[in-house]
Amino acid sequence: MKILHISAECYPAAKAGGLGDVVGALPKYLTQAGVETAVIIPKYRTKWLVNQKYNELMRGTVRIGMSNAAYSIEECYSSTLGFRLYVVNAPQLFDRSGVYMDDKGMGYSDEIERSLVFQQAVIHWVMGMKEKPKVLHCHDHHTGLVPFMVKYCPEYQSISHIPTVFTIHNGEYQGAFSWQKMQLLPFFEASAKPLLDWGGAINPMASAIKCCWRFTTVSPGYLEEMKNNSGGLEWLMHNESGKASGILNGIDTQVWHPATDPLLDNPLQNNDVAAFKAKNKAAICEMFGLRTDLPLIVFIGRIVGEKGADLLPSLIGRYLHEGGAASFAILGTGDPSVSDAFTRMADYFGGRFGCAIMYNEALSHLLYAGSDFLIMPSRVEPCGLNQMYALRYGSVPIVRSVGGLRDTVQDISSPLGGAGIRFSHFSEADARLAIDRAMQLWWDRPEEFLALRERIMTIDNSWENSTGRYLAIYRQVAAYMGN
Ligand code: GLC
Repeated sequence: MKILHISAECYPAAKAGGLGDVVGALPKYLTQAGVETAVIIPKYRTKWLVNQKYNELMRGTVRIGMSNAAYSIEECYSSTLGFRLYVVNAPQLFDRSGVYMDDKGMGYSDEIERSLVFQQAVIHWVMGMKEKPKVLHCHDHHTGLVPFMVKYCPEYQSISHIPTVFTIHNGEYQGAFSWQKMQLLPFFEASAKPLLDWGGAINPMASAIKCCWRFTTVSPGYLEEMKNNSGGLEWLMHNESGKASGILNGIDTQVWHPATDPLLDNPLQNNDVAAFKAKNKAAICEMFGLRTDLPLIVFIGRIVGEKGADLLPSLIGRYLHEGGAASFAILGTGDPSVSDAFTRMADYFGGRFGCAIMYNEALSHLLYAGSDFLIMPSRVEPCGLNQMYALRYGSVPIVRSVGGLRDTVQDISSPLGGAGIRFSHFSEADARLAIDRAMQLWWDRPEEFLALRERIMTIDNSWENSTGRYLAIYRQVAAYMGN
């Protein structure tokens, strides 16, 4: 194995958001590009993981404060992924159905212990390998202490020469915890203490940025934004920018293929986009009790402030009150106060508003395939994959110009024709203007709308474009160690 990805999520084994999609796709495309790539994640009790067969490779324990946590490393037998998948099995910590949260939406209270055991189990495993990976590629704060630990923990010195690459999928979550919990960490060189600290706490994301060999963000736009706005990391981002690259995520065009998508009852046939859209829209309208004669705007994603979901109840409510000629459907989970508002709106605006407060992969595919527009009013968007899924399934994105959304969706007013409708400021008024522009396009310039829809479905957002940039980084860091 040449590249080992260490992550909390990997689709289809375990997914809570875009991190899972990326870690389920990038390794596949790296493998296809001829680089042997593997992934290791915790063994959760997800449906997919429960249904696999495993081969135990080793057992060990990790010291956590005054106690020891037992774990085993297992290889998963599935051959459908396109890369090798390994899991850390520590039932007392990971044998739970939710990746980060219990059934009631509460985060786990032993989050720190979970991530510390996972990261160290992976390090132990790598130390025992005969042929070691050329690069350890860590993703987000859950694996952010690996670069520090391999460099500064005496017991892990034998792999301190292996380069670490760190990818920031979401700088809003940094995994910080109090120095009072320091005794949970493995022993480390005292002089390295500042490399764990940011703002008076142990901050895994900041530590990864300081200690890794190279780091990346999931779009070039987000890298620039993080220098001005990243929850306290701004100065660090400036300081370490010499080893940073912004690399746009791709989408898995094998999973997201309108003609072969197994999750769709009505895939694209004979390239007939109109029939594809109409059949899927009819299915959505039936499911949510919506009118079929109106343009359908959907929101898909976590119902959280970062995604701007809190803007939607009032934005959509006002629009429908004023007699706006569109219907809306929402799919996602998150903030209960916003979700409750959606549920009330579904009662009040029956026929023109529907919501499914849940995580449902198959329903999300249907919504991309059957909607006319997808709205993403994100406050922050490191990359965003949903706009790319929407483009591929012929749903015109209405997005706020931020992070990866700005990098992937040009406005229709641009000289080259654009791919969607953008607005700049995070405000209801600006989002409303964008909806008005979308509706004008739909009702007043139908030919233009149809041409746009056909065009966006051919835009190439595949991983092939970005894997080369990761490969270049791997080659650079591996060259330092003479590989
Ligand atoms: C996070 C970000 C999202 C990004 C995804 C994959 O979920 O919020 O913007 O697309 O990670 O990198």
